[in-house]
Amino acid sequence: MDETELWVEKYRPKKFDDIVGRDSIVSRLRSYVEGRNLPHLLFAGPAGTGKTTCSIVLARELFGDYWRENFMELNASDERGIAIVKGDAAHHGKIKTFARTAPFGGATFKIIFLDESDSLTSDAQSALRRTMEMYSKTCRFIFAANFPGKLIDPIQSRCAVFQFSPLQEADIEKYILRIAGSEGLNITKDALYYIVRHCRGDLRKATNTLQASAFLSKDIDQNTVYQATSSADPEEVAEMLSNAMGGYFLKARSALDEMLFEKGLSSTDLISHIHRKVFDIGLSDEALLDAVTRVGEAEFRIVQGANDRIQLESLLAQIGLIGKREREKSKSSKQKTLS
Ligand SMILES: Nc1ncnc2c1ncn2[C@@H]1O[C@H](COP(=O)(O)OP(=O)(O)OP(=O)(O)O)[C@@H](O)[C@H]1O
Ligand SMILES: [Mg+2]
Repeated sequence: MDETELWVEKYRPKKFDDIVGRDSIVSRLRSYVEGRNLPHLLFAGPAGTGKTTCSIVLARELFGDYWRENFMELNASDERGIAIVKGDAAHHGKIKTFARTAPFGGATFKIIFLDESDSLTSDAQSALRRTMEMYSKTCRFIFAANFPGKLIDPIQSRCAVFQFSPLQEADIEKYILRIAGSEGLNITKDALYYIVRHCRGDLRKATNTLQASAFLSKDIDQNTVYQATSSADPEEVAEMLSNAMGGYFLKARSALDEMLFEKGLSSTDLISHIHRKVFDIGLSDEALLDAVTRVGEAEFRIVQGANDRIQLESLLAQIGLIGKREREKSKSSKQKTLS
């Protein structure tokens, strides 16, 4: 394994057939390639969902060997503002320079891919709109945006819109298994499931998690993944909570210290694990309301910069009190039914 190479680049699809899922997007893009023409496009969606990838694949399929000459990728957030479009003495108006020269290899247009286009100022967007018109014969724009609503209407209305929703779990699984197979990794079902859930539809995150895990071992189980992501083991969190609930505060506290200081887990990661687990520990409705409120308060304080150890300890103590109340309640209801 070449340890310097990022798998997000190494395994980035080069042709439509390599793309997992996204059937309707791929079939629309294929029809542009068949017709050898395309409108301006707007790729909208969260990070790691294939916007850059689909643009590059589209360029490769359209232009073949000349794709690099006919495709320019710009990141709008690198050079916010108008200079990128209009050009002045300092910035040479990259778009205009590229747009002005003729396409290579018999192509009739070039593609300008504008990543993070939603971070352009509205002045820059207005200038861009004029540039789009000026070079409409020889250039197509693809705008990638996490928040397409930040693009001005005249740009939005000039584009065919493609919505990139978070990837389906089955597709993420397929892609991860493809990489694992080609890197000769053994990955357990649990580890695979954890990666798929953990990335929440972001394939970049999934791929990076797999690579970080493979760095530790070629045999990847859940623990490898937790270690690689500095993520808490859900079982340990559950045990800590049940100790706190059962009145074994000191035990719960030392488990907390171990996770925070020996394993170096982040308090925000821990609190989101606690948040998930608190629903599974059999609390009554009323106690659950109380517990979730406490988790929310602790999370807020930690984010605001409060001491995370104190906040988490205090949360465990509050959960201990909730547990105590629950026990007393069930004791008194048992007594009532007996009498
Ligand atoms: N449908 C897909 N099929 C195969 N690989 C994919 C797919 N979607 C994303 N990927 C992979 O996930 C990684 C991230 O994808 P990409 O860079 O295209 O995301 P993006 O939508 O442009 O994200 P950002 O908004 O952060 O720029 C790449 O390595 C790419 O190979
Ligand atoms: Mg991108």
